[in-house]
Amino acid sequence: MSLSEASSDVVVVGGGIVGTAVAWRAVEAGLSVTLLDPSPGDGATHAAAGMLAPVSESWFGESALARLGIAGLAAWPRFAADLARATGIDVGLRETGTLVAAYDADDVAHLRRWLALHAELGLEPTELTGTQARRREPLLGHHVAGAAWVPGDHVADPRTTRAALSAALHAHPGAAVVRSAAVRLERDAGAVVGVHDDAGTLHRAGAVVLAAGWRSGELAAAPVRPVRGQTLRLDAPPGTAPEHVVRGRVQGRPVYVVPRPPGTGSGPGTTAEHREVVVGATSEEGPADRRPSAGGVFALLRDARALVPALDEAAFVEATLRARPATPDNLPLVGPSATPGLHLATGHHRGGVLLAPLTAEAVVAGLTGAALPPALSVADPDRFTPLLEGAS
Ligand code: GLY
Repeated sequence: MSLSEASSDVVVVGGGIVGTAVAWRAVEAGLSVTLLDPSPGDGATHAAAGMLAPVSESWFGESALARLGIAGLAAWPRFAADLARATGIDVGLRETGTLVAAYDADDVAHLRRWLALHAELGLEPTELTGTQARRREPLLGHHVAGAAWVPGDHVADPRTTRAALSAALHAHPGAAVVRSAAVRLERDAGAVVGVHDDAGTLHRAGAVVLAAGWRSGELAAAPVRPVRGQTLRLDAPPGTAPEHVVRGRVQGRPVYVVPRPPGTGSGPGTTAEHREVVVGATSEEGPADRRPSAGGVFALLRDARALVPALDEAAFVEATLRARPATPDNLPLVGPSATPGLHLATGHHRGGVLLAPLTAEAVVAGLTGAALPPALSVADPDRFTPLLEGAS
């Protein structure tokens, strides 16, 4: 039995970048929203580097994901501008392109297979020699054998974006953020009509949006599993951080180096010229143990400095591990489900930051009875039915 009850039009379960974006777009659309999360922003968003990289993260067999990612990226500029207007916060969207580096001859062969895939998808990254790549990014290591330039893959700052979304929600009279954990869905005649939290409150709502990352599977039988990713944060003094996102392969291992603008460094001794640099990421199936592994930290640093040797001079600030929510086909689960009152916004795997703005638009369309953006047709939450029928 619940100790108390509250009600709103919508309850969003999960306060990461996806859930908070959904909640903000929903209150902007005139709905009253309760967002439930015991520790908002402390899931996958906390580790994410913020790459908006549908082209450089695409791979064989994933053309639907690449197309969805390209649509997701197109939603970012308006989202960032709307959020800046609402809060005065610059969310760090940097449209400066991505350099994809290949360290040795085998990595160059891999890069060329990837370039051939892009030709099939109608995408146009440009192959560069090592020398051409170093002209574009002078801090690129001398051993880097080849590269490609992806002008349309960008980056945003996930922590700042989530903080801006949180500020926008706190300032909105239609929004309430409740710091407790959802423990059970309330159902009535087959429909989801609310959520019970661990403080004993039943949050009644016309609709519940599950945006709890890989934990979404604990409330409904959403087929999401944790895929752990470690990222590192460095404080880079002037002259040690690349200008562009640099990613690539080093002897077969993927790595990325994401520089933020000057003034984003942290720790004692940082100055207005220091930059935060994020290095990522491991990809490990398994239980969501949040302790970074020694081997993961070592490999990320070794491979990042192979691409950008000047990073040796940066200060090590943080190693963070969180789990991404992955689905069986690596595509997310977005929109109204077959269970009345239950909407999903999860399963974004490596693309939670990239797809947050488009997901928020789609979920609000579903909540208000409008048509979902066509790009989301591949993200139907019921494509793994009858899995959602188990919602309890
Ligand atoms: N999108 C980058 C990652 O998941 O590591």
